[in-house]
Amino acid sequence: EQIEKGGYPHFMLKEIYEQPSAILDTFRGRLLSNEAIIKMAGVEDNMKKFLAADRIIIVACGTSWHAGLVAEYIFEDLARIPVEVEYASEFRYRNPVITEKDIVIAISQSGETADTLAAIKLAKSKGAFVFGVCNVVGSSIARESNAGAYTHAGPEIGVASTKAFTTQITLLTLMALRLARAKGTMSSSEFRHHLIELETIPGKVEEALSSDAYVKTVAEIYKDSKNCLYLGRGFNFPVALEGALKLKEISYIHAEGYPAAEMKHGPIALIDEQMPIIVIATKKGHYEKVVSNIQEIKSRKGKIIGIVTKGDVSVKELADHVIEVPETIECLTPLLTTIPLQLLSYHIAVMLDKNVDQPRNLAKSVTVE
Ligand code: G6P
Repeated sequence: EQIEKGGYPHFMLKEIYEQPSAILDTFRGRLLSNEAIIKMAGVEDNMKKFLAADRIIIVACGTSWHAGLVAEYIFEDLARIPVEVEYASEFRYRNPVITEKDIVIAISQSGETADTLAAIKLAKSKGAFVFGVCNVVGSSIARESNAGAYTHAGPEIGVASTKAFTTQITLLTLMALRLARAKGTMSSSEFRHHLIELETIPGKVEEALSSDAYVKTVAEIYKDSKNCLYLGRGFNFPVALEGALKLKEISYIHAEGYPAAEMKHGPIALIDEQMPIIVIATKKGHYEKVVSNIQEIKSRKGKIIGIVTKGDVSVKELADHVIEVPETIECLTPLLTTIPLQLLSYHIAVMLDKNVDQPRNLAKSVTVE
């Protein structure tokens, strides 16, 4: 097992550090930026269906559901296709309206999650076209889907999902860009610009990982918190949900993710000097609005940990701590802002002496209801 961990104390940390290369593996053979094209056989072969679709319904569970939420923002923004994101467990039991003009994308790392599998069987029985986004090759969901694409993240052993999440987002971004080009919702120069930026992401993830030592010092300060709030807007709202999930899963600290502007409709009541609030406040993407949310937290004496773009000034003045990530185009920021949140959860869990790779009560793959 020590050999499998490749010198890391836990699989989770190894998998966090594998993200630059895992994302490159997701690109491989698909992102051809010299020729300014994206090649995805499962999409090309079914392009007619994708172009005729009224909407895309994404079904998933857990972290994969969060990747689906990020994809909703990306598909709608780039390809102008309406997207709904559903918990597979709700979708399968609520008599959903589905027709043969719908495309269902099932996202699953393991490809074995019982609810997701049942959801796609239901969708198929109603005539929908099912596209699977799985990591495990030959898994049940991959086999049951009409078409699909593998994330190629490599085996993920840690129960708390890390590289599976960022590679799912990477793959879904490639898909959205391919469809945007086919639909003409993006100019060729915009498309090219996105491809060039996408190519820089593995290097920028590497750079985001270099905040590890600083994140550890922040973890030391907040490890004994009883509650924690994660806020983000737009593309980074689902990242806030995922950050909170990671902390809950492995450190057993209660955490909630919220869209930053919703704070005033409830969570603001919880804020006092004991409460750490992690705010994703990268440049662009409603930055000024997030800064004013941070001011509201500050005036209630909450402790602010800002996830900011390198060189940020305004948040630095207000926050107790800032963790920088490199700059990129807005729709790609989730791939970078996720990194410090994974590291923060990891370090807190280790400091609390929890079983990081196999947290209590959780399973890597939930094959029963
Ligand atoms: C379990 C795992 C999570 C995972 C979820 C969905 O709850 O502990 O990490 O996100 O299942 O799994 P899937 O394999 O379908 O992505």
